[in-house]
Amino acid sequence: MTNPSLLILPGDGIGPEVMTEVRKIIDWFGAKRGLAFDVSEDLVGGCAYDKHGTPLHDDTMAKAQEVDAVLLGAVGGPQYDTLDFSVKPERGLLRLRKEMDLFSNLRPAQCFDALADFSSLKKDVVAGLDIMIVRELTSGVYFGEPRGIFEEGNERVGINTQRYTESEIARVARSAFDLAMKRDKRLCSMEKANVMESGILWREVVTEVGEDYPEVELSHMYADAGAMQLTRWPKQFDVIVTDNLFGDLLSDLAAMLTGSLGMLPSASLGAPMANGRPKALYEPVHGSAPDIAGQGKANPIACILSFAMALRYSFDQGEEAARLEGAIETVLADGLRTADLMGPKGGTPVSTSGMGDAIVSALDASL
Ligand code: IPM
Ligand code: MG
Repeated sequence: MTNPSLLILPGDGIGPEVMTEVRKIIDWFGAKRGLAFDVSEDLVGGCAYDKHGTPLHDDTMAKAQEVDAVLLGAVGGPQYDTLDFSVKPERGLLRLRKEMDLFSNLRPAQCFDALADFSSLKKDVVAGLDIMIVRELTSGVYFGEPRGIFEEGNERVGINTQRYTESEIARVARSAFDLAMKRDKRLCSMEKANVMESGILWREVVTEVGEDYPEVELSHMYADAGAMQLTRWPKQFDVIVTDNLFGDLLSDLAAMLTGSLGMLPSASLGAPMANGRPKALYEPVHGSAPDIAGQGKANPIACILSFAMALRYSFDQGEEAARLEGAIETVLADGLRTADLMGPKGGTPVSTSGMGDAIVSALDASL
């Protein structure tokens, strides 16, 4: 049997340094658990633009379509701010999402016990928090037409279009219901049905899909109220399903409940491929953090947890994913802290690679 294939796209800023730590973890699973991957690496984002004049080369796009899973670091940086919109680093990421048709974006927000003091909210509000945001990722206002900046009379007008078809809503709703079935069987759908027709349709279609999931308790909330409830008492939620733009906002909000953006992974999943695995791209929720790049300050945990999600969702290795998550819990409980986790209570400061090495040791100790 051939090994499953992984395409690694470290990207820009802190992407390459956090990915170096992920490589240590991948190597560990190959050496110690007989879980070897065929790993290839390529460029995305600003670094791809520097080399090829495009944030995603066609050859890289083709490779991403072929592999069993893509693991991405982060894209972007201030040196690319003045580039034309069509070749900005983010366009590389958006092209991957769109062409791989990764419609279901899973963004867990989990509060690790060792970090419960870290949130800007009170400890009892966030301790033990474990919610999952499912964000629609390939449609909505991110991709709707018409879009652009046009002349209208004697001024310019900027236009983006929120557009959802029934099938687009139904497929992401189904993936959220499926997840809810594996969790606490509660799903909250968020839109703005009070002001947007796309929101009215969203609510109707989610309700229809819900008829196939009688065990799941479905609720609906306007997205603004949802943001408020997420900060008031986030533990009322289990799974949240929402559109592309609301999901972008609400997932950043949910991320901060847990203390640090440096902790949160994500999975972007599409339809099953011929081998039964879903098309998949895994990436940390955080960005390229150019201000700290190359200084050994970055927290590699979000990217390592993204690999844990790959083990779980692409490779059916839930137990090994839990082993990796457990190793991370161990090092946090031991007080190891990258710069972003250095809260009022202090801890033992470690560099990016120090954190990666400690997680590898904790994995060894788990055997
Ligand atoms: C995210 C990011 C992206 C988005 C950017 C980098 C294009 O904010 O993944 O949440 O807006 O989707
Ligand atoms: Mg975002």
